[in-house]
Amino acid sequence: MLIGITYDLRDEYLSEGYTEMETAEFDRPDTIEAIDRALSNAGHQTDRIGSVKALTKRLSAGDRWDMVFNIAEGLCGYGREAQVPALLDAYRIPYVFSDPLVLTLTLHKGMTKRVIRDLGIATPDFAVVAEESDVDSVRLPYPLFVKPVAEGTSKGIDASSKVGSPAELAQTCRRLLSTYRQPLIVETFLPGREFTVGIVGTGRDAVVIGILEIYLKEKAERDIYSYANKENYKELVEYRLLDGPLAGEAERVALKAWRGLGCRDGGRVDLRADGNGILHFLEVNPLAGLHPVHSDLPIICGLAGITYQELIDRIMQSAVKRIGADTHI
Ligand SMILES: Nc1ncnc2c1ncn2[C@@H]1O[C@H](COP(=O)(O)OP(=O)(O)OP(=O)(O)O)[C@@H](O)[C@H]1O
Ligand SMILES: [Mg+2]
Repeated sequence: MLIGITYDLRDEYLSEGYTEMETAEFDRPDTIEAIDRALSNAGHQTDRIGSVKALTKRLSAGDRWDMVFNIAEGLCGYGREAQVPALLDAYRIPYVFSDPLVLTLTLHKGMTKRVIRDLGIATPDFAVVAEESDVDSVRLPYPLFVKPVAEGTSKGIDASSKVGSPAELAQTCRRLLSTYRQPLIVETFLPGREFTVGIVGTGRDAVVIGILEIYLKEKAERDIYSYANKENYKELVEYRLLDGPLAGEAERVALKAWRGLGCRDGGRVDLRADGNGILHFLEVNPLAGLHPVHSDLPIICGLAGITYQELIDRIMQSAVKRIGADTHI
């Protein structure tokens, strides 16, 4: 097959003047190289397309692909991750990973949690703070946790995200609102163990490939898998695969969320336990990082004895199978 690859390269945006933070979710050249190599090894012909703007030009020029391997996160708006898939739908070009509905919904952590609650999955109570005055109407028990409503890679998450009083809540909200210029989600702080669950497949075919416990070392920023802890994970974080009864529960919760939200082909669900050890849904990553060494999903694979090649093969197999079965959307 001829497979196009869509992505946002961090270096390109940095050279256009965007900041380190604005580009934190974007990809490094070695991620694209690794995906390209795995697809080529599997016998495909590849074509590196780039961002949504490059895709627009190529489509207008008449270029087409049998399938697009899409990891583009986009730059702007709640639909930023949905831009490439929506455009590909318009041209009826099949693509790997989730559709525009899922990618828009799951970028908004508050909207996602409303659906998750409807599915009967535990998730911390929350409020959305769109402007400073909304802080006064937050009626949730402290400690609370504050984060931007539509970011990833722990952008905006540090020690001050956990707040113990209305004054701290107001201070953190003021700072995050002015830095990120988007609403915030304020939710009950979960003090328990944290896991990220790696999944490949779609719907009934989705399976858990491994459950990673995020164990913070002594020198790490305490309690949370923060931006700083992710950036310096080699010194600050230890990853362990979970098994035993809690693993069964993590698998059940993660697959229920993955299937209920309609996520496709591969990604991760983040879970964390409350004070009673009950697992809660934190968020889902339908475009999980795919750096072969540094990203959580390939780290899970490494610990579970799955090679990077196998990971990409299984993601592709899921896409091919579901596209073969698609009748309308
Ligand atoms: N309610 C909460 N209680 C305790 N810790 C939390 C809570 N929400 C988030 N965290 C901490 O903050 C981290 C980042 O939160 P979250 O996973 O929502 O953000 P993200 O930036 O989208 O992450 P990713 O890099 O997985 O895309 C979590 O891994 C967890 O350590
Ligand atoms: Mg997360």
